Amino acid sequence: MLTGPGSSLELARLIADRGARSVLVVTDRVLLELEVVAPLLNALKQAGLAVTVFSEVEPDPTIAMIMAGIEMLRASGATAVLAVGGGSPIDAAKAMIACHASGRPPEDLDGYFKVRDLVLPFFAVPTTAGSGSEVTIASVVSDPGAGRKFAIVDNQLVPVAIALDPNLMVGLPPHVTAATGMDALTHAIESDLSTLATPASRAQSVAAARAIFRDLPRACQDGHDIDARQSLAVASCLAGLAFTRASVGYVHAIAHQLGPLYHLPHGYLNATLLPYVLDFYLDGAAPRMAEFAGACGLGQDGDDPQSLAKSLIAAIRQLNASVAIPQTIEQIVDADIPEIVQRALAEAHGTYPVPTYMSAADCATVVRRAAGARPEKEEV
Ligand SMILES: NC(=O)c1ccc[n+]([C@@H]2O[C@H](COP(=O)([O-])OP(=O)(O)OC[C@H]3O[C@@H](n4cnc5c(N)ncnc54)[C@H](O)[C@@H]3O)[C@@H](O)[C@H]2O)c1
Ligand SMILES: [Fe+2]
Repeated sequence: MLTGPGSSLELARLIADRGARSVLVVTDRVLLELEVVAPLLNALKQAGLAVTVFSEVEPDPTIAMIMAGIEMLRASGATAVLAVGGGSPIDAAKAMIACHASGRPPEDLDGYFKVRDLVLPFFAVPTTAGSGSEVTIASVVSDPGAGRKFAIVDNQLVPVAIALDPNLMVGLPPHVTAATGMDALTHAIESDLSTLATPASRAQSVAAARAIFRDLPRACQDGHDIDARQSLAVASCLAGLAFTRASVGYVHAIAHQLGPLYHLPHGYLNATLLPYVLDFYLDGAAPRMAEFAGACGLGQDGDDPQSLAKSLIAAIRQLNASVAIPQTIEQIVDADIPEIVQRALAEAHGTYPVPTYMSAADCATVVRRAAGARPEKEEV
């Protein structure tokens, strides 16, 4: 893991030093047009590598887009792949190397440990501080036909090396900085509350959350604040390490249903849903939340667990407000809620080690509140 301003250029040399001759760079058009990728492309060429660029990635990569990328990967004859971008290009590149190695389409690899063939050497440079995908074993793929997202999960999808270079993040607009930063905070919190959390993953979750509470408003106010950008890049990576070990929870399970339905960004949905899911946890998981809040320096000395847990939720609502994320998701349509609930619980209860379980009615209440329903107006 290389870190610091300019570290992405060092990564270019490292890729060449490891023996690759040609590299496929997976990115998106916005990053190409903003010239975020240009210095890196030059560094790769200067290191003697033949470079092909696949820049067709769009937010929330789809099966069709990944298939187009695999075609270019085959045609290019690249012997290494470098993803440069947010979670979308990194996930797209992961799915591409998995499918390229196994000769199977993305939907055949849905699930755990199905990539049995050796993938190409894979490298990543994140340009958002959010998904943590640069260190996780997952690639999230959208299937618009079925209105769902699924994950290809395999140890081989962790890059060989990465660079956390804040120079590439200075142009990230405030609203994307906010949403991606809150995605990372959600990873930190959901992994900490997970029943699979370990002392090491919990230390990573706490370090990530402390940095995000402190530095996310700074980076949203001044995108050129390199210290804040670097801190958030490291925080997002730590949160990625924590959740690739301990997993995520109901916030992600619900967000994964709302994203394809209403075309809203992943981080924005997580940010808005997070306090409502934590409100639900107050009944069963307050002590865990209190411990986390205390470790993050929230609350007052002598607070009981309920008050400390509530101070975590209050701090998240305050952070959302300070980075202009709304308190509710107005786009949610009442008639969609039963299906959202059914799909979210199918996802969560199949995979996520949540601290306390939701019934369908509990989940519907969480979604209705996130949609703006006030408790006294809810139907039972
Ligand atoms: N694999 C995992 O472990 C994991 C974890 C969480 C989320 N995800 C997935 O990641 C995706 C979201 O990724 P994301 O939130 O990082 O956003 P993204 O990659 O979708 O990018 C969001 C927007 O920001 C722009 N952008 C990115 N970097 C920029 C920069 N430096 N300057 C200016 N603009 C920039 C992009 O062009 C895009 O328009 C979702 O598909 C989500 O499901 C994956
Ligand atoms: Fe996420």
